[in-house]
Amino acid sequence: MKIASYTAYGGPETIALTKAPIPTPRPGEVLIRVRAAPVTAGDARLRSGKVPRGLGLMLRLAIGLRRPRVAPGWAFAGEVADPGTSAFTKGQRVFGLTGFKGGAHREYLVIKASGTLLPLPDSLSFEQGAAFFFGGLTAAEFLIDRAKLAPGERLLVAGATGAVGGAALQIGRHLGAQMAATASPANHALARSLGAAEVTDYRKGTPPGPFDVIVDVMGSLGWPGARSLLAPGGRLVLITADLAQMLGSALRPRREGRHFMTGTNKDDLPAMQRLLALHQAGGYTPVVGPVLPFAELVKAHAIAESFHKPGNLVVVM
Ligand SMILES: NC(=O)c1ccc[n+]([C@@H]2O[C@H](COP(=O)([O-])OP(=O)(O)OC[C@H]3O[C@@H](n4cnc5c(N)ncnc54)[C@H](OP(=O)(O)O)[C@@H]3O)[C@@H](O)[C@H]2O)c1
Repeated sequence: MKIASYTAYGGPETIALTKAPIPTPRPGEVLIRVRAAPVTAGDARLRSGKVPRGLGLMLRLAIGLRRPRVAPGWAFAGEVADPGTSAFTKGQRVFGLTGFKGGAHREYLVIKASGTLLPLPDSLSFEQGAAFFFGGLTAAEFLIDRAKLAPGERLLVAGATGAVGGAALQIGRHLGAQMAATASPANHALARSLGAAEVTDYRKGTPPGPFDVIVDVMGSLGWPGARSLLAPGGRLVLITADLAQMLGSALRPRREGRHFMTGTNKDDLPAMQRLLALHQAGGYTPVVGPVLPFAELVKAHAIAESFHKPGNLVVVM
């Protein structure tokens, strides 16, 4: 089978595609024939080592000083090739997460049957299944659990048409928010189709506030830019935050009667099941943008690290 690996921190060309034997599942594991996997902003950051200011050393201490010692690929959709002793059946459509250690950018993978693996519903294609979790889990946790977005509240999604923003608009609409967005002009129609009533070009400014919740996807507003747009009691969610902003939000989460939140989201089975329930209730279906063959993984990484892709980028195996 074909597998991807990182050879060094660096540009997309540091990814190698090589051959390896198809793995044999151990007791309790399932062998999956991967059909599609996302190439995310997170994949691009792990490969390049380029993370928001102050977080680089932490990243390298966690995944490797000289090269990323994790395998590429965090999520997948595919078919069960060997169910082992599990309740899954051969040929069953599934999707799931390989998690932090990675290993989804390959043609076959093994995963614990009781782990982060779910049946893929008929309502989702392999490409949608692959795209399902990355932005969706982040948007769901920050809007529902952290910001506690309520029906009728005003939501601004700044950077609204990528993986996280596209999910935030849909979940915001499902929760009954009134929504505004920023996006580059080519993506205004997409932002409107996902529920934004008002869209501006982020290079020219934001829709006028006040907003109850602002999801700042790229951290381009930050507290200084968002503060005057937030209603009393409003919540700023900084999806991309540097070390100083993370420490600032931990030490001073309440500011002038408003709330400032950063952090990362959970990617465990209950979080996945909650997102699936949102999909089944009509509240979320991931936007699939570029779809490339697995052989073009290097090109896929180059697109992902632009931070301007519409929706989610998927490679198909
Ligand atoms: N905290 C967490 O747990 C967490 C989880 C997931 C992702 N992230 C981070 O969130 C960020 C976004 O991830 P993603 O997967 O959504 O990326 P993505 O799919 O590449 O989308 C990026 C979005 O940001 C917009 N954008 C780019 N530059 C902007 C700017 N200067 N001002 C406003 N908007 C801008 C783009 O708009 P146009 O395409 O219209 O230009 C696009 O909609 C990344 O930094 C990623 O590392 C954090």
